[in-house]
Amino acid sequence: MIKVDVSHLNSKINFAAYADRVKEINDGINERTGLGNDFLGWAKYPETYDKEEFAKIQEAAKYIRANYKILVVCGIGGSYLGARAAIEAITGLYAKSKVKIIYMGQTFDPEYVSQVMRFLKGKKFAINVISKSGTTTETAIAFRMLRDLLVSQVGKEEAAKAIFATTDANKGALLELCKKYGYTRFVLPADVGGRYSVFTAVGVLPMAVAGIDIQAFMNGAGKAMVEYSTGDIKTNQCYRYAVARHQLYKDGKAVELFVTYRPQYVQLGEWWKQLFGESEGKEGTGLLPDSATFSTDLHSLGQFIQEGSHILFETVLNVKACKKVAIPHDDDNLDGLNYLDGKTLGEVCSKAFQGTLDAHANVGSVPNIVLNIKKMDAEGLGFLMYFFMRACAMSAYLNEINPFDQPGVEIYKKNMFHLLGKPGY
Ligand code: PA5
Repeated sequence: MIKVDVSHLNSKINFAAYADRVKEINDGINERTGLGNDFLGWAKYPETYDKEEFAKIQEAAKYIRANYKILVVCGIGGSYLGARAAIEAITGLYAKSKVKIIYMGQTFDPEYVSQVMRFLKGKKFAINVISKSGTTTETAIAFRMLRDLLVSQVGKEEAAKAIFATTDANKGALLELCKKYGYTRFVLPADVGGRYSVFTAVGVLPMAVAGIDIQAFMNGAGKAMVEYSTGDIKTNQCYRYAVARHQLYKDGKAVELFVTYRPQYVQLGEWWKQLFGESEGKEGTGLLPDSATFSTDLHSLGQFIQEGSHILFETVLNVKACKKVAIPHDDDNLDGLNYLDGKTLGEVCSKAFQGTLDAHANVGSVPNIVLNIKKMDAEGLGFLMYFFMRACAMSAYLNEINPFDQPGVEIYKKNMFHLLGKPGY
């Protein structure tokens, strides 16, 4: 389903030199023996997931769609990015969904929080609070505020029916709240970290509420799992991508720019950045993951990419299928566009892609990896997200890094808690 094109790198990658290491790492992922193996639950998740819970998620989504106009997804980092990325990628930016999905719990910003609270006032909304630890401060404060608003609008009993929590099965403050107030509860498995959790209830509950076919999404992930569990670098496209980006890093590139041609993939870029940034950026190593949307950003970052310092390479997502949108004819032709008569926007976009690839890779000497994917429906997206997760694990292991911890993110929290006077800090 995904073809990795490495013919625009201006150099040849010696994939064969990586054959043994890739095989060994792949075995470590399959057999759960690699670094951080306590968190390798995502690798076989498309096969091992709890089917009963999945059915309950679908039931809950049906209930929310039938009873509420808005779902507030309350989480941060891996506890919301995947759902948001998938919802926007599939339903678009101005979706006519039955239920509007909005986001809170990912910021302390009083402006944003009061905007959301003002928007919700007097409206019939449900909450999906997502936190594995149950103690993430951004999410916990937001949830307390949302809960208060809900209770003040509908009373305690109705509020409890409108709250859906996704958290650890056995521990955490959120679990205690669920037990005390009887919220419907879904599990974020202990062996799946936040940024690898999009196939669990963390991702699929909000997606199902948004009207996405989550079974197709899981099927896509399942197909990718089968295709990419093999350790042969000659054929495994996912590992060819991992090795190519690893080699570019070793050759001196510092930044990988993830490029798409669709504004509705901006959040996919945010999810991708977290996945690679939090997994690889450790011990003074790793590529800085950044993202851009073309052609929009060709009118901003384009100049830097073409002629700026040679610190980056691009990974371009090229989605083949697109809507047919005709460019209208105009008899006056004062804007000079009639040379495009009979062409669609998709054809123009595809020429922009080809022209940019040539300009950046051949004229600007910026290596480009192109990921060709046929379709970005629910199945295609499930396939792609699994592809990135597996590639990310392989890349981090090639750097001898544990892909599944994030010790660095604790430091700001400790400082903040100390400054806020939290007991024990
Ligand atoms: O990927 C991760 O592990 C993080 O981004 C977490 O998901 C994020 O910090 C939220 O944590 P929690 O789910 O415990 O609230």
